[in-house]
Order: sequence, then structure tokens, then C-alpha cells
Amino acid sequence: MLVRREARERSESKSNEGDHPLTDPRTRDEATDWFEQLYVSSEARGSRVPWDRGAPHRHLVSWAQENSVTGSGRRAVVVGCGLGDDVEFIAALGFDTIGFDIAPSAIRQAQQRFPQSAVNYVVADLFGLDPTWLGAFDLVVENQTVQALPGDYRIRAISAVSSLVAPSGTLTVLAARIGDAPPAAGPPWPLNHEEIDAFATVDLEPVEIAELSVDGNPRWRAIFFRPAGPASRSDMSI
Ligand SMILES: C[S@@+](CC[C@H](N)C(=O)[O-])C[C@H]1O[C@@H](n2cnc3c(N)ncnc32)[C@H](O)[C@@H]1O
Repeated sequence: MLVRREARERSESKSNEGDHPLTDPRTRDEATDWFEQLYVSSEARGSRVPWDRGAPHRHLVSWAQENSVTGSGRRAVVVGCGLGDDVEFIAALGFDTIGFDIAPSAIRQAQQRFPQSAVNYVVADLFGLDPTWLGAFDLVVENQTVQALPGDYRIRAISAVSSLVAPSGTLTVLAARIGDAPPAAGPPWPLNHEEIDAFATVDLEPVEIAELSVDGNPRWRAIFFRPAGPASRSDMSI
């Protein structure tokens, strides 16, 4: 129990990456609890989790508007969907949508916030994906999950996110970007260009890597497309 308490104290003190419990396999379960614990404690205090915007992310909305994105019943998934604002936005575009998160309290609160929702909310771990989800989604949205993970977890998370994209599917990644200033101690740990590039695979092509900002904070909006066959991004349907 001492180890568990120490791990929690380290996570709550917003420690540096090197001593964050997610970097230590012995305390990974505890580290996974970190998200759940924050949802639970924030709800109990009547406060917000730090990433709660109360609305879909503005860069997701602008991307959808700029590209006239419509779902028409196609399948979408939102990774680490938290309290549900992004996934509700995607469902409202007409996608048959799953939102998943490792934190049961996030999923419960999202369902409570949107009781009439058409979204299929699921408690699930990005590191243990349902095999039927692999290559199954016409739209995959990842917003700020990878940046909440340290060290070796990041590249595994990036690979897992990319694995969800179906042929002719699109991946939209939103994340904090490492700017000119040295990054603050995480979490979050902003993504660098190499990490954004790593979402691409041999058959998942970058379409747009945009360097944007929110309230002066550097952000990425990166779009990737998986061709249906040996074709090019001219096939892109979103
Ligand atoms: C920084 S929050 C962002 C939440 C949401 N995407 C948003 O933008 O409001 C990161 C989210 O990822 C979830 N998460 C972390 N690790 C995960 C994993 N391995 N599988 C699924 N979700 C995970 C956390 O519970 C949390 O809700």
C-alpha cells in the first residue's frame, strides 16, 4: 500500500517524466488509476478536470467545417474521449460513433451529461484494443491522450491509434505542440514533430500537419488518410 500511496503522491505532484508512475511498470496500474482518480476527485469537489472545455475542441470543429465533414452512417471512434464533447460533436455529424476511455468515471459522467446520446460509450484501454476495432473506423479522433502519457507509452499509443483507421479512413490528431520554450514538467508532455510524424505508417499518409495555437499555446492539428489500395490521397473522401 505504501508503494501505491507514494505513486499517487508522485502523480498528484505533477512530477517530471522520469519519476512518473506510468514510466514504471511496477506501478502502471496505479498510474492508470491516476486518470480515474482525477475524474472521481474532481466530481466530488465539484471542480473540472483540467482538460474539460465544456465544448468540442475548436480545432476539431474548424477541421470539420473547413472540410464539410459528414458521417452518413460511417463509423467513427474517439480515443480517450473523456467527458464526451468531441465524440458528441462527431456523432452529430452523422457518424456511427464509439467513444472510449480507460477511466470508468469519465464514461459514466459522459453518459450522464448526454443521456439522449447516440454515442456508444465504452470503457476500454488503448493498449488492449478489441481486435474487431482494428482497421474498422472511417474516422478516428485522438485529442490529447498521447500527450498525457510518458516515455515508451507514447510510441505504443501512437501505433495503437493509427491501427484503428479503416481503408479510405481519416485520422485527426489534436495535441499540444512543443514550441520554442522548453516544455514544462508534465503531464501533459507536448508532442514534437517526430512524434506527430510517427502516426503515419506505410499505408497511412499525412494530409495536413498544421502548427496552430490556442490562447497562445502551440498546438498540432494533424490529419492522416489511409488509401483503400495502392492509391493516393486523391481518394480522400472526408
Ligand atoms: C488529457 S485527457 C483528454 C480527454 C479528451 N480527449 C479531451 O480532449 O477532453 C486524456 C484522456 O485519455 C484517457 N486515457 C489515458 N490513457 C488511456 C488508455 N490507455 N486508454 C484509453 N484512454 C486513456 C484518460 O482517462 C483521459 O480521459
